[in-house]
Amino acid sequence: MANSLRVGIIGAGGIATAVHIPNYMKCGDKVKIVAISDVVKEKAVQAGNQFGITHVFSDYEVMLKEVELDAVSICTPNKFHAPATIAALRAGCHVLCEKPPAMTVEEAEQMAKEAEKAGKILTYGLHYRHSPEVEVLKRFIDAGELGEIYAARVHALRRRGIPGWGVFTNKELQGGGPLIDIGVHMLDTALYLMGYPEPDTVLGVTYQKLGTRKGVGLMGDWDWQNFSVEDMARGMITFKNGASILLESAFAANVEKHEEMNVSLMGDQGGADVFPLKIYREMHETLVDITPSSLPKKAGYDLQIERFVECASAGKQPICTAEQGVILQKLINGLYESAKKGSSVILSDVSVKA
Ligand SMILES: NC(=O)c1ccc[n+]([C@@H]2O[C@H](COP(=O)([O-])OP(=O)(O)OC[C@H]3O[C@@H](n4cnc5c(N)ncnc54)[C@H](O)[C@@H]3O)[C@@H](O)[C@H]2O)c1
Repeated sequence: MANSLRVGIIGAGGIATAVHIPNYMKCGDKVKIVAISDVVKEKAVQAGNQFGITHVFSDYEVMLKEVELDAVSICTPNKFHAPATIAALRAGCHVLCEKPPAMTVEEAEQMAKEAEKAGKILTYGLHYRHSPEVEVLKRFIDAGELGEIYAARVHALRRRGIPGWGVFTNKELQGGGPLIDIGVHMLDTALYLMGYPEPDTVLGVTYQKLGTRKGVGLMGDWDWQNFSVEDMARGMITFKNGASILLESAFAANVEKHEEMNVSLMGDQGGADVFPLKIYREMHETLVDITPSSLPKKAGYDLQIERFVECASAGKQPICTAEQGVILQKLINGLYESAKKGSSVILSDVSVKA
């Protein structure tokens, strides 16, 4: 076990115990989870007992000081992503921070700067990038099958999927609702497949029509009396290369499907829907739809952790970079700012390292 990556977990809630810890454990001898911290000490103790994690803390600063760690997963509500990430980087750890990167652009920028200063990896829990559909489609795109992708649609819509647990409806702790929570996944997927083009302008609109009243909860009974986020966000993004994205994201909306998470791409040689994967082409004077008859089996969540471990052990940058996190944050916050102002917002120059 001498060369095991020594991992610490900050935040012992749902995503830590259902995804991060079990997937680190699947890496066998390559990883040892040595410490866990949660402000609610009992949650850290419970996870520690369940997964055999020896060192348990209620304060991550103490954990980072007392335990020698190589890498840390940040699994707290969004408000604490930046401070916990920065503390972990300063303690010399590689960081896998859950999505969204942060609450503000300034925080995401500082996180990227701190990672560069520390010479450590900072990557985000944008696991759809590792999904079989995205991996396969990326190969088609890199081979030029879609040509120039100039338009995309991003959908992260639930009919009545307001989380009935956690703090997902608390603006102070999360920074927003469906846009920053689930829209962020599909927006990142579109940007990744489009080559993370440089954004130009955003126009956003948000609504709060269904979340503040009692109703049917398909994801449990939510706290409608303290619902402080948008229940729907819509927007348009334009890019300096002329491409554009139309986005819709909702925790609750009067639509047919209970959940729709999808990205549609339109290029000058072909198009695609990502979830489920279908590619649209014109070939031999015929319009054809290409559907893979099999896809790789491993889920995005599993691969995300496996690859983080590989990259942290080898000092290699994962496919999701801290700089892309800044762009993503800029778009999310730009859409919220635009919705608040009631007019479009021009984003100042930002460029992303490939
Ligand atoms: N990638 C995904 O698909 C996905 C899915 C769910 C959640 N998430 C993200 O994971 C994060 C956590 O979500 P969750 O569902 O696990 O929430 P959760 O409420 O189940 O867990 C969060 C935990 O963090 C703890 N915490 C709060 N402040 C802390 C602090 N300062 N230091 C240490 N611990 C602290 C809480 O006590 C709680 O146990 C959020 O940022 C969310 O966006 C990502």
